Amino acid sequence: MNKLEKLISNELRNSFYTLKIEPKNQENIINYLKRIGTKDINILKHSFRVGKLGIKISNLLDINPNKLFYSGLLHDIGKTKIDKNIIKRSNKYKTFTKEDMQIMKMHPLYSYEILKNEYNYSALLSLWHHEHQKDEYPPKENFPIEAQNLPIYKQKEIEEISKFLSVADCYDAAKNRNNGRFWNRKSTSQEVERIMFEEREHSEKLIENLYRNGIFK
Ligand SMILES: [Fe+2]
Ligand SMILES: [Fe+2]
Repeated sequence: MNKLEKLISNELRNSFYTLKIEPKNQENIINYLKRIGTKDINILKHSFRVGKLGIKISNLLDINPNKLFYSGLLHDIGKTKIDKNIIKRSNKYKTFTKEDMQIMKMHPLYSYEILKNEYNYSALLSLWHHEHQKDEYPPKENFPIEAQNLPIYKQKEIEEISKFLSVADCYDAAKNRNNGRFWNRKSTSQEVERIMFEEREHSEKLIENLYRNGIFK
């Protein structure tokens, strides 16, 4: 087992066990994560954290934890299709350009394409994970046609559950990654909290709930 495989299996062993993930799915997920890790180790670590946050959020809200675990781990898999230099630049202040951002904004569509046949539910959540923010993307009219024409009940569910994924994603990015404001240092807890309410203004009640219950700290 190489270093990357070891990291992945160490990170996931407990969650796989607790959630009783079948061996076939374990193997699939590990293969997807290897693709992410080969591209960029920061995205891989972010994916682990969002997956684990997803389990905690699900337990609090009493929803099936597999949905947010799978989609937390795989939501950014689309970034594996983006040029390595752009990914590299996204980690550095000043070198990441507006043009890079336009390309980066394609990643939810790529995630959907990669996942749709095997994990359709996670594919849809991934497609939606940047839809709940001020500067939302991609435009819904650019969604693949089948994702635009879901039955209403399913559309509503995806919208709701992807909001949970979106706040977990935003929280982790604000806390652990460059977030466009403090590129040279990590944000303080207070700054993270402010970013959460500003960036996910439509999820105010949910964010309050997650802070009240100690999931966000
Ligand atoms: Fe993303
Ligand atoms: Fe993300």
